[in-house]
Amino acid sequence: MSGQPSAVAAAMADARPAKQAIRDEWMEVLDEYAPVAPQGETLYATLCGGAGTDVRLLIERGHVAVEENGAIAVTKFPRVIAVEKDPIEAGLLKNAIPGLQVIASSVEDILIAQNEIRYPVGLHLEVPRAHVLNLDFNGNLEFRVDKGKGLVCTTIDLVRKAAMAHAAPPLRQPWALFLTVRGTADWPESVDGHIASALRVARQTSPGFAQSTLQIEDEFLSGFDESLGPPLSSLAATTQQRVIIAYVAYRVLQVASAIGWRATCKRARFYGGESGQGTAPMCTWMFDFHWSNDAHSGNPSVLETTLETALSAAAYVDANGVLRGFDESA
Ligand SMILES: C[S@@+](CC[C@H](N)C(=O)[O-])C[C@H]1O[C@@H](n2cnc3c(N)ncnc32)[C@H](O)[C@@H]1O
Repeated sequence: MSGQPSAVAAAMADARPAKQAIRDEWMEVLDEYAPVAPQGETLYATLCGGAGTDVRLLIERGHVAVEENGAIAVTKFPRVIAVEKDPIEAGLLKNAIPGLQVIASSVEDILIAQNEIRYPVGLHLEVPRAHVLNLDFNGNLEFRVDKGKGLVCTTIDLVRKAAMAHAAPPLRQPWALFLTVRGTADWPESVDGHIASALRVARQTSPGFAQSTLQIEDEFLSGFDESLGPPLSSLAATTQQRVIIAYVAYRVLQVASAIGWRATCKRARFYGGESGQGTAPMCTWMFDFHWSNDAHSGNPSVLETTLETALSAAAYVDANGVLRGFDESA
């Protein structure tokens, strides 16, 4: 993912109330998962950055054992694993939290390589199968053109890889995914067409989803023409964020049900981008995954059912970290 912030910008983003509110919600989910994730299986794999803020919170809550000197106790099967593609951040992190297992690599490399037998076992196999996987990206959703499949959302493809890894025997469940991306539509207009088509299909599939996306219909879909636009990037920042929230919620539930998971969008949030605040507009989701025999048979009703309430826990988090309605403006 692109969009690496400067050290100062990263520190400011780290401290802002909206992000802290999101971290509090992550920790609520981790409180649920810590007792059900057996010892010997990784509880949490995260892109925690050089400061390791979310890992520190996990330690504070007692979910990771630490020694007297504050270092994470070294065990054969680590409870928490960090992935960091920036070598400087990876070095900072190793010093900041001694004993933390840090894989200095991109998470894409780890997720994409998991089906290749040449890849080493161990830590690299645990990341895609962590009970809680935190893909806390600071860049945009990414897309690429695939010769056979046409336009593919690379970010959703990573989610598919993680969902396949959890489904490999022995089944690793339940599991949760936290996903965060920048909430701006900085992409070619062909991507807008792909997103508009996906949302139209989702709205036709589920009356509940259609109801939750009335404002998106009003602000984007009704006026959007594949060849004439207007491009999503020219619309209000909050419209872009809402569209991204709805698109990703739909696509994650879709890829999950195709593999055999019944996924639930427990929370979806957008925050940042308010005028005069200098904060980046962001979108974030928290999903739960449970194995489902119905879903495995390709039963379309699983997707229909999960879509009904996909956006019922969607909200805007204001600059003070207070939760507001999904349709409210920043
Ligand atoms: C948003 S920051 C992490 C913030 C942290 N989770 C927190 O709560 O404060 C994202 C970190 O992940 C790293 N990163 C971004 N994309 C990555 C990728 N594709 N693979 C591995 N690391 C990545 C960045 O270098 C950055 O240090």
